[in-house]
Amino acid sequence: KKITVVGAPMWLGQSVFGTQLAPAVIRSAGLIQSLQLRHTDVIDSGDLEFKSEENYCSVDDIRCKIKNLNPVWEGVELLASRVSEIVAEGRFPLILGGDHSIAIGSLAGVAKHYRNLGVIWYDAHADSNTMATSPSGNVQGMPLAASLGAGQSELVKVGGYRNKIKAEHVVLIGVRDIDAGEQEFIERNQIKQFTSEDVFRIGIHNVIEEAVSYLATQCDGIHLSFDLDVLDPSDAPGVGTPVAGGISLKENIEAMNLLAKHNIITSAEFVEVNPLVDRDGKTVKAAIALIEALLTN
Ligand code: ARG
Ligand code: MN
Ligand code: MN
Ligand code: MN
Repeated sequence: KKITVVGAPMWLGQSVFGTQLAPAVIRSAGLIQSLQLRHTDVIDSGDLEFKSEENYCSVDDIRCKIKNLNPVWEGVELLASRVSEIVAEGRFPLILGGDHSIAIGSLAGVAKHYRNLGVIWYDAHADSNTMATSPSGNVQGMPLAASLGAGQSELVKVGGYRNKIKAEHVVLIGVRDIDAGEQEFIERNQIKQFTSEDVFRIGIHNVIEEAVSYLATQCDGIHLSFDLDVLDPSDAPGVGTPVAGGISLKENIEAMNLLAKHNIITSAEFVEVNPLVDRDGKTVKAAIALIEALLTN
C-alpha cells in the first residue's frame, strides 16, 4: 500500500483539552517507522493547522448551540481538501485525530472519489446526533449524522456536497451508549449495528465477517472510522468519553487482522486518543497496534 499519514489535531468538537496532541504523540511513539517497516511507500504529510480558540461565535448566535461550530467547520473543510488530494493521488489516507468531529472532513474528502462508499464505524457511541438531539452540543457526537445529510448545514455541506454516504452502507460496531434521539435516527435510517453485546454474543470474528459481506457487494470502497473509546476503558483509558463494557484490545486487533486479510479498507482514521488522560501510554500504544494490524499488507 502507498500510505499517506495526515494529522488532524482537533479538540474543539468536544470540551476536554488534549485530543489535539494525539497525532504528535502517536508519531513519537514510532508509528511512521513501524509503517515503513511494512510498506515501501509511506509519506508523513504532517499535521493540518487548525484554529484553537473556543467559542468562536457570539452567544446569541443560534449557531452557538453547536460548540465551536466555526473552528470545527473550518478544520474539517481543510481536512476534506487534504484527504481528497491523497485519494486522488491513488494513496491510502491514514488520518490521525483529533476528536471524532474530524470524520466529517475525512468522509467529505474520501466519498467524492467513490460511487458507494461504505463505512465501518467502530465506536462506543453512535455519533448520530444533530443540534436538535445532541445533549452536549459537541460536534464529536454528530459526524455520522452530518455525513448522512442530517444536521447543521455547514457540517452537512463540507467539501461542497451533501450526503457523503448512504445509511445502508454504514455498519456500527461496538456501540453501547446511544442517546434517545440517536436511537430514533438509527431506526428511521435502518442503520446496521452490532452492539458490544452482539460482539460478546456472536464473537468479533463473526461480526466482521457479517459486516464485510453486508458492505462488500454494494460498496466500491470502505472507510474505517475507529474511535478508541470502542475499547474497554481498561485497555484504552486515554479517551474523553470512556464507556464501561467495551471490547478488548485483543479482539479489536483480531478484527483489524481480519479486515486486512479481506483487503477491503480503502481509508481509515483513528480518533479520540487523549494523551493527557492516558495511563502509561496505553491508548497510544493500542492505537498503534490497531493501525499495524490493519495495515499489514
Ligand atoms: N452522544 C454523546 C454526545 O452527543 C457522546 C458522543 C461521544 N462521541 C465520541 N466521538 N466520543 O455528546
Ligand atoms: Mn465517536
Ligand atoms: Mn465514542
Ligand atoms: Mn446500495
